[in-house]
Amino acid sequence: MANLNINGKKYAVDVDPDTPLLWVIREQVGLTGTKYGCGIGTCGACTVLFEGQAMRSCSLPVSAAEGKKIETIESLEKNGQLSKIQKAWVEKQVPQCGYCQSGMVMATTALLRNNPNPSDEQINASVSNICRCGTFQQVRDAIHAVIK
Ligand code: FES
Repeated sequence: MANLNINGKKYAVDVDPDTPLLWVIREQVGLTGTKYGCGIGTCGACTVLFEGQAMRSCSLPVSAAEGKKIETIESLEKNGQLSKIQKAWVEKQVPQCGYCQSGMVMATTALLRNNPNPSDEQINASVSNICRCGTFQQVRDAIHAVIK
């Protein structure tokens, strides 16, 4: 049994403690905005916030998330309003297939919460997610639209 705090709600899930947090979020909790890409901590599709820091949830056993504050893409919209970052993603038409974009948005959310005016080097270091459509420039443009 793991006791989780996801998007401000408490969940008690009956899973093996080594189960990756990604699968608990998707299958036990039913929040499917967090995506599975590589499963080995490389692509970033599964990025969530873990105590406010970007974390690749495919590589985190659910036991390590017990009692920690977890935030997923579903938490960003408040009262029907997208976050500033999500709005920039729409305005800059970032997504192509869209599959990896929730991870991109969550990595950006962590970056800008901790550093509202990052340099290009800091952006590249923090938003290192992989996009097979090659939306990297649009992602940078959207981040710059938020921090301008
Ligand atoms: Fe977790 Fe790729 S699915 S980093």
